[in-house]
Amino acid sequence: METLAGQGPWFDDHGGCFIAETLSPPVSELTERYQQIIASAAFQQRYRSLLKHYVGRATPLTLVENFSREIGVKTYLKREDLAHTGAHKINNALGQALLAQMMGKRRVIAETGAGQHGVATAAACALLGIECVIYMGLRDMQRQALNVQRIRLMGARVVAATGGTQTLKDAINDALRDWVANADTTYYLLGSALGPHPYPAIVRYFQSVIGDEARQQFAALEDGALPDALVACVGGGSNAIGLFSAFIEEPDVQLFGVEAAGQGESSGNHSIRFGQGGQSRSGVLQGCRSYVLQDANGQIGETHSIAPGLDYPMVGPEHAQLRDSGRANYLWASDDEALQALQLLSRCEGIIPALESAHALAGAIKVARQLPPGARIIVNLSGRGDKDMQTIAQLTSAEENPQ
Ligand SMILES: Cc1ncc(COP(=O)(O)O)c(C=O)c1O
Repeated sequence: METLAGQGPWFDDHGGCFIAETLSPPVSELTERYQQIIASAAFQQRYRSLLKHYVGRATPLTLVENFSREIGVKTYLKREDLAHTGAHKINNALGQALLAQMMGKRRVIAETGAGQHGVATAAACALLGIECVIYMGLRDMQRQALNVQRIRLMGARVVAATGGTQTLKDAINDALRDWVANADTTYYLLGSALGPHPYPAIVRYFQSVIGDEARQQFAALEDGALPDALVACVGGGSNAIGLFSAFIEEPDVQLFGVEAAGQGESSGNHSIRFGQGGQSRSGVLQGCRSYVLQDANGQIGETHSIAPGLDYPMVGPEHAQLRDSGRANYLWASDDEALQALQLLSRCEGIIPALESAHALAGAIKVARQLPPGARIIVNLSGRGDKDMQTIAQLTSAEENPQ
């Protein structure tokens, strides 16, 4: 719990709490009640028990020897793909759903991009008997149709966000509108390390279980050592900050976040918030200040990624701080590089990663080239690929059925 001190509202120039006046009372209530509730033994016992018996934690740390040989460094995968519902999102969804219940809220709303946060939230609400509404961009509903079915099967309602690019940003806009109208009864369960304070701190806290476990597991397997580097994909930044959190104070552990380069920075079709092309700069979006893709007039830029969970114009504020301070490095993986990494892991290890996680693997291949011989790394395998099979099948059918 001490790790919460100092986490926001500001991360140097980033973060903060930029909200409409109507949201001020519910955000203040959340800030106050969150601190009280997570400090209580009742919350901690229930949450830790559910992480173990419902989510299936601890997730394994798997040494992938064939993949290691292919990329030239000893690689461990933190297996969030094996968590219940198939991704790291459940750690946060369950924690916040319990928080909502203990705050006396009867209704939970959430946004989702890849659908994994929607699935995790629907599962947590089904378990706890809370009404659940998930906002999802229409484009994402089409490319993640399987997750839409899963959410509905667990009793939640899916509402299509039809504005803008019909992706994650638009789903968050609609969820925020709902929250403004229904703040008395409704808890907004935000899915990444983003948004107005205290959300980046809350999400980091619930995802820090990834880093805490990984540190212990690595030490047990490697004679008490620390890894040389960590690699994670960065959408809003929750799986990455969850893994990094246990190692930020260890200067010998290099931290690498991987953004989605889509079809390349110069194409304009990408989701690179830390790019060099001048398309991204500091700005306020959806409650906080951080790097945002935008044009010269401050209009939010359109984004693209093969991975819906990375298809978002803003990066979480703590990543902005880690990048500006030089503590973490951020690199890119394109759609093609991610797909190749996905195929490599599937073929050599029998593990099909989510398209988001495939960006971390593609990043690891690049990071491996700059590490000394004998280096050992942890890659966060944030989710499994089942949800992406339709997209993967479309993209690979040309290779498999050449004319
Ligand atoms: C499997 C998976 N990994 C990564 C992400 C990216 O989110 P974040 O950066 O918050 O971890 C998502 C988002 O939906 C996801 O589903």
